Amino acid sequence: MSEQKSFSSNLGAIMAAVGSAVGLGNIWRFPYITGKYGGGAFLIVYLFFVFLLGSVLMMSELVIGRRTRCTPIKAYTSLATKGQKGLWRVLGWLCVVTSFFILSQYLVLSGWTTGYVWHSVSGSLAALGTDASLIADFFRLFSTGGWNPVWYMVAFSALVLIVIFGGVQKGVELASKVLMPILVVLILVLCVRSLTLPGSMRGVEYLFSPDFSKLTAEGILAALGQALFSLSVGMGVMVVYGSYLPANDNIFKTAMWITACDTLIALLAGLAIFPAVFSCGFDPAGGPGLVFCVLPNVFNSMGTAGAVFSMVFFLLLLVAALTSAISLLECLTACICEATARPDGKSGMRRWQGALLFFLLTTALGAVFTLSFSHLSGVKIADLSLFDFIDRINSIYLPPICALCTTIFFGWVMPEADVRDEFTSHGAHRVRLYGAVRFLARYVAPLALLIVLVTGIFMN
Ligand code: PHE
Repeated sequence: MSEQKSFSSNLGAIMAAVGSAVGLGNIWRFPYITGKYGGGAFLIVYLFFVFLLGSVLMMSELVIGRRTRCTPIKAYTSLATKGQKGLWRVLGWLCVVTSFFILSQYLVLSGWTTGYVWHSVSGSLAALGTDASLIADFFRLFSTGGWNPVWYMVAFSALVLIVIFGGVQKGVELASKVLMPILVVLILVLCVRSLTLPGSMRGVEYLFSPDFSKLTAEGILAALGQALFSLSVGMGVMVVYGSYLPANDNIFKTAMWITACDTLIALLAGLAIFPAVFSCGFDPAGGPGLVFCVLPNVFNSMGTAGAVFSMVFFLLLLVAALTSAISLLECLTACICEATARPDGKSGMRRWQGALLFFLLTTALGAVFTLSFSHLSGVKIADLSLFDFIDRINSIYLPPICALCTTIFFGWVMPEADVRDEFTSHGAHRVRLYGAVRFLARYVAPLALLIVLVTGIFMN
């Protein structure tokens, strides 16, 4: 098994990072929260956050990773001053905990997606026709179907494991180079179909025309949360990917490319979904049910071709989920290998052992969360089902805390000379906006994240 610890090229690095960023968050979550919080109005706020704060966090994580060539476990401690090392070790482990819980929850939705790929290929979704209640019942029976959705989830995570077994270049990078172009083709096919349906412009209007009355404080918080989640920052994944970046890679440009591609795919997902929903006369305010209840109905009302578009859509969702889950398992694997390495430099846990360990742990926990819709529905923590509980931890607490600590570390603890040297790849290129990035990282990002954290905790 390959144990090379870097991407082979700048393009490969960008593809892998875009693969991590583009996930269920873009295709499933972004369209419906944009619709919910005022379309174009939400979009303006989202773009502002994604480019001003998300991209800066992405740069911070990439810089920390490449400077140290370590995972969060050692990266923070090795850059911190002597007396503070113990404190920053906690942040490294917090990143591991965050990635672990995010992956476990992510697997639930990925398992459902895998199930829906199968049901659209086997024809059982098409057989439901256009009866909305039948389709909703199908989803209810599927998600509450005990062990059935768990097996789909196991199949999905096994695929992820195989890729991680392949190593950084022949696994993660290769999978991203193959899967990302496929994802782009699939999404473009859906956009063209959706935009050429009669009456599709109403969907475009819904997505883009600003309705500031719907843009509440909650919407603004959701925009920042979505910006961070969508860029995969705030849990150490980009520190690990940063440690694999080629030495001459221009981190500013790379982060901007990743941010732009991630945003573009999210917008395309909106254009693939809403015009078709409106054209077929459905209600877009489907919330999370949009993907599993409203869309199958949209496809079924398109006649025979609808079955093909249904397959294309769920395959798209699967590909997006795969490359994101790969990045999370890669992060966990790299962290545990580093954490168990012996001081004499001899390797501790082997890559395959680390991957297998976290595959087993996250899949087991993912199974528990999946079963919280059926056999374990009676188990509650703070009056919430297990899935809702982890959803709350994963959105309100863990990523914002990690992100806040990372910006403080990057802006105030890491020596400025190191930051500048890494940004310019040891003076190889000039970064004209360096001053602006530094200002955002030191003042604006920590303040914004603190506000998000505090309001998130008090609003819930
Ligand atoms: N960015 C991914 C998405 O949009 C989710 C993710 C978060 C992946 C964090 C890796 C790390 O779905």
